Amino acid sequence: MPQGLEAAGGEELIALGAHAVKPGRRAVSFEADMACLYRLHLQARLPFHLLRQVARFPCQGREDLYEGIRQALDWERWLHPSMTFRVDVTGTAPGLNHSHFTALQVKNALVDAQRDLWGERSSIDLADPDLSLHLHLGHGEAQLSLDGSGSSLHRRGYRAAMGAAPLKENLAAGLIRLTGWDGSQPIVDPCCGSGVLLIEAALTALQQAPGLKHHFALESWADFQPELWDKEVNRARQRRRGDLTLPLLLGIEANPTIADQARANVAAAGLSGVIQICTGRFSDQPLPDGPGVLVCNPPYGQRIGDEAELKELYRELGNYAKTKAPGWRLWLLSGNRNLTGALRLKAEQRIPVSNGGIDCRWLRYEIR
Ligand SMILES: C[S@@+](CC[C@H](N)C(=O)[O-])C[C@H]1O[C@@H](n2cnc3c(N)ncnc32)[C@H](O)[C@@H]1O
Repeated sequence: MPQGLEAAGGEELIALGAHAVKPGRRAVSFEADMACLYRLHLQARLPFHLLRQVARFPCQGREDLYEGIRQALDWERWLHPSMTFRVDVTGTAPGLNHSHFTALQVKNALVDAQRDLWGERSSIDLADPDLSLHLHLGHGEAQLSLDGSGSSLHRRGYRAAMGAAPLKENLAAGLIRLTGWDGSQPIVDPCCGSGVLLIEAALTALQQAPGLKHHFALESWADFQPELWDKEVNRARQRRRGDLTLPLLLGIEANPTIADQARANVAAAGLSGVIQICTGRFSDQPLPDGPGVLVCNPPYGQRIGDEAELKELYRELGNYAKTKAPGWRLWLLSGNRNLTGALRLKAEQRIPVSNGGIDCRWLRYEIR
């Protein structure tokens, strides 16, 4: 879960039927039955991965780990040598301080178990494994989980074109969730880049399930229930609000190549009739009367642009909001306080979020 979105992510899991939801640091723990776990894979917009815990055992070092892994699951059912797998590790235990080394210990335990059973072993596939395992070590304990998503859930499949300094799709969806935008007011991104904030806003309002095109590792699980899965797939498909007419969703992008990429992304998401992308500087673009919502992730200097030039851009953005958007609300993702000062607006709310490791604030301004 992107850091800063744990509480919002927890609310999303609850709304989809999860229980005992506890937001932690960059993660949320929860309980769910299998139908709910399938539903979360298909419908949750905020997580990177969903992990299903399958074993938990005391672990004080390499030998405990090796034995514990061999006993953790009935590998004869779960990991035939014809299947590929990968192992990811977080945390440490005595003598197990490096995640890569620990992952090798897990792999050795698994292939030894396979050789004992069949005389042959699985191959490792990091990109698209049949079984994706996650081990967490800490407090004298090991927790083994299965990652049902395979590749990260933020990859929705609509974004071939990246633009400059793109937000990940799940972070964009989380930021939109925090705005509370419900599809009843116009929403405009004056520096839209790849268009991801507007795309995630539209998909959320239309209740389009994000995972319908994803290839899920959970379909290779030994206890996979195809009928239950099909039921949840149909349920996810039927949630789409085909009847909903959305107001203006407009992206403005000064760089013509990036604007074209945004249009390609909008088309790939099936939203060509829903989101308009306009090429040009935002200052030239009129806005309808408020209320409405501006969402914006302007450049903030760590990756693109230089500070003096950027201050001018933020000044221009503040003026634009005050002159063209009275009665609107502005949400702006800032990674640099010096720049937001140049807006000459007072933030009413500041929500800390991490964007790819950069400490940012999702700031709310009421434009009067
Ligand atoms: C940080 S990027 C936005 C990234 C976007 N959120 C995404 O995930 O793809 C900022 C974008 O603002 C655009 N931009 C900069 N100045 C602009 C202006 N005056 N009017 C419109 N777009 C502008 C840049 O070309 C860049 O694509």
